[in-house]
Amino acid sequence: MGGTWFLGKHIVEGALARGWEVTTFNRGRSGRDADGVSAVHGDRTNGVDLGRLAGHGPFDAVIDTSSSELPPRGVLAAATALRPAARRWVHISTVSVYEGWPHQSLADTSTLLECPADADESYGYTGEDGSPTRYGFQKAGGERAVTEVFGDAAVLLRPGVILGPGEYVGRLPWWLERAQRGGRILAPAPAEQRIQPVDVRDVARFALDQAVGSASGGFNVTHPEGIMFRGFLQACLAETGGAGAPVWADPVVLADRGVKQWTELPLWRTHAGVWAVDSSRAVAAGLRCRPIAETIRDTWRWWAADGRPVDHPRWAEHGIAPEKEAKILASL
Ligand SMILES: NC(=O)c1ccc[n+]([C@@H]2O[C@H](COP(=O)([O-])OP(=O)(O)OC[C@H]3O[C@@H](n4cnc5c(N)ncnc54)[C@H](OP(=O)(O)O)[C@@H]3O)[C@@H](O)[C@H]2O)c1
Repeated sequence: MGGTWFLGKHIVEGALARGWEVTTFNRGRSGRDADGVSAVHGDRTNGVDLGRLAGHGPFDAVIDTSSSELPPRGVLAAATALRPAARRWVHISTVSVYEGWPHQSLADTSTLLECPADADESYGYTGEDGSPTRYGFQKAGGERAVTEVFGDAAVLLRPGVILGPGEYVGRLPWWLERAQRGGRILAPAPAEQRIQPVDVRDVARFALDQAVGSASGGFNVTHPEGIMFRGFLQACLAETGGAGAPVWADPVVLADRGVKQWTELPLWRTHAGVWAVDSSRAVAAGLRCRPIAETIRDTWRWWAADGRPVDHPRWAEHGIAPEKEAKILASL
């Protein structure tokens, strides 16, 4: 479900490389279907299109990357339509489904936000400090929908932040461009803060493994070791050849100067649980995460070769304006 965009595209490429027969289902808007797939075009909010897709089965597994903007009842409808034609369902969810995210450390068994399987898009709310999120409620409802229909044959993958070649949110590309520009770089202290972004190719590989596995339930999919912010920026500088020096600014100062967490300095968020997500169940089940420096290197290679790949509204949300950054740096 999907297959032409970021994570979905890597999943398709990985499945083809394993010699699997792949069917993709999308509307044909966001990108080209890979050569070698059997492409079915349709809208997953349309029951007739879902019925047509089911007719292309049976499938050993469905991997669903395309429910990020779909209410639980939409996930329920797709899972119900495809149940007779599919053995397993691997659902791409998110760590935002947890009640405690981003304030508390999280395990795969932490309490989930409450959302019914047949909720519509109005269900849930976003708190004043940005947590919980309506997105988290909706994704939790989507998980419940898949579990109700597929039972033990449902696998729920909960990534935190996904980076890598093809990223459309613009988090790592922004830091890479900023590093390349060089000079004094406004950076969020503490430099020792560990972050846990996971490479899109590692999520894809794990999703494919789960498609032919026998596990069920939820898996946090975050980088188990992570990288310190200092190392992350050093790798961005080394890769881009930027002559820059991070200036580590206290979070209180950044907040005082109106720097928005998560977006103006991507990957920076002060809540204690953001980067405290335990992925040991996934690691025990075979999740292997490459060093984040490799993700940085390959994203830069992709970025340098392809430039901005797609227009996406989220892209515009990321990165502090150069004038604002310069003003803050001058005041430090
Ligand atoms: N990026 C992150 O850091 C992050 C973190 C945690 C979790 N996640 C989760 O990871 C998944 C991301 O997957 P992704 O990056 O591959 O892309 P995505 O944006 O979730 O999905 C896009 C794909 O779905 C298709 N699609 C969208 N709406 C459709 C519809 N109504 N009917 C049929 N197809 C439709 C698109 O093709 P068409 O437009 O051509 O139809 C495209 O192939 C999401 O579920 C997200 O919640 C992401």
